[in-house]
Amino acid sequence: MDRNQVLVPPEALARQRDFQEKIKAMFAAREAHPLACVDTFGCQQNEADGQRLKGMLREMGFTLTQEPKEADVVLLNTCAVREHAEQRVFGNLGILTHTKRDNPEQIVGLCGCMAQEERVSRRVRDSYRHVDLVFGPHALWKFPELLWQVYETKKRVFSVEDQHGFIAEGLPVERDRGVRAWVSVMYGCNNFCSYCIVPYVRGRERSRDPQAILREVRELVDAGYKDITLLGQNVNSYSKDLDTGYDFADLLAEIDQIPGDYLIRFMSSHPKDATKKLFDAMARCRHVAKQLHLPFQSGCDRVLAEMNRRYTRKEYLDLVAYARSVMPGLVLTSDVIIGFPGETEAEAMETVSLVEEVGFDALFTFIYSPRPGTKAAGMPDPVPRAEKQKWFDKLLAVQNARSAALHQAYIGKTLRVLVDGDSGDAEFPLSSRTEGNRLVRLKGDPSLIGQFIQATITGSNTWALYGEAL
Ligand code: SAM
Ligand code: SF4
Ligand code: F3S
Repeated sequence: MDRNQVLVPPEALARQRDFQEKIKAMFAAREAHPLACVDTFGCQQNEADGQRLKGMLREMGFTLTQEPKEADVVLLNTCAVREHAEQRVFGNLGILTHTKRDNPEQIVGLCGCMAQEERVSRRVRDSYRHVDLVFGPHALWKFPELLWQVYETKKRVFSVEDQHGFIAEGLPVERDRGVRAWVSVMYGCNNFCSYCIVPYVRGRERSRDPQAILREVRELVDAGYKDITLLGQNVNSYSKDLDTGYDFADLLAEIDQIPGDYLIRFMSSHPKDATKKLFDAMARCRHVAKQLHLPFQSGCDRVLAEMNRRYTRKEYLDLVAYARSVMPGLVLTSDVIIGFPGETEAEAMETVSLVEEVGFDALFTFIYSPRPGTKAAGMPDPVPRAEKQKWFDKLLAVQNARSAALHQAYIGKTLRVLVDGDSGDAEFPLSSRTEGNRLVRLKGDPSLIGQFIQATITGSNTWALYGEAL
């Protein structure tokens, strides 16, 4: 892709700021104090996009609210990865017919990954006539202009063209308060795993310039953020599109030079692009958490090939062995899909055996969900859902037993944790995370929030550790 066509030019971004000002002036002339609600579904990439949308809304003079009923603008920032995620959004859209009936001036917008699917935008056009604005991730940077069009023309606006995607630097970001921040280092995905919708809705891989990323991380560290996650659908293919020879390991090493008291994490990594160089860099870099999210999806080579994952079970196991050899105590997590079309019980049990063999710290487990337009959606899928559920339950039982045993082994240990907020638990009022991102509920004083501290672990269950601040 031509880099000039990927980067949104500064003039185009300046034009968007003009639209922000126009909307602000429109409300000021009415002496109105507009409210906006952004409801984000899906992954961290989408959360990061949601923070950009909120940032733009703030610049337009909106105050943010969690309450759709009272909002002048409601945006549903959607996820398309599984059918369940889509159903939830259509349910929420249905509810918004009522809020709009009470407040006909309300603008209802649908954005994010679902909006980029033609099937969805057609359905919204035809059957959800109270939706005023629909735009996909490719048009996110143009949100001020699109919203202005809705106000000016009083017509429905759709911006859902299929494109390769852009990089827009310098959009305003409304970050969550606290210690945690996201930094997208690249957008899109080129992998086309046969079950996955993401490459169709997020466009081709495009990497931000290293200097822009370094600047953003430096600003976050200076602003007091202590737990920074670098995001990409496949972060370790970072910079392949820039063709400079610089890679994700080089980026980690440069970020690590930034002075300060902070941790760097990253996700997701694709095993086909995970290199020894990356693991060596992780091991060396003082600020990089010794934590790796390395989705394997299936433990069966035939299924992996059908999924178009481009690695084998043995290659995955070798990678894990190398990563653990250079980072003893590495916290390892993964994603896994049960019930891919044509998968047999014996093949699903190969996945369960891989889980037993590796011993993951945590797993994100999914039952296969057909996504229209993907290759797998056209494959014969004869196994009934109830049967897949049994395999899934078996997998969960294995992982839950492992998580509980792992957690129990922490009891009596003293660890460095980052206190990140209230836990909502009266006895253990603080929430904190270990370097490996494990949740620890703590007894301690709220003044510790925002600090790295030492904590002694006194108890555990399958999902969390409990302890005391030292
Ligand atoms: N790019 C990341 C990767 O490859 O690991 C994450 C992609 S996706 C947002 C997160 C997880 O959702 C995937 O790792 C996969 O396990 C799961 N997933 C994706 N498509 C799915 C589908 N059609 N049905 C069930 N799970 C799916
Ligand atoms: Fe989807 Fe595969 Fe890309 Fe991950 S790497 S986003 S699973 S296509
Ligand atoms: Fe969902 Fe889009 Fe993320 S499909 S998982 S929100 S990239």
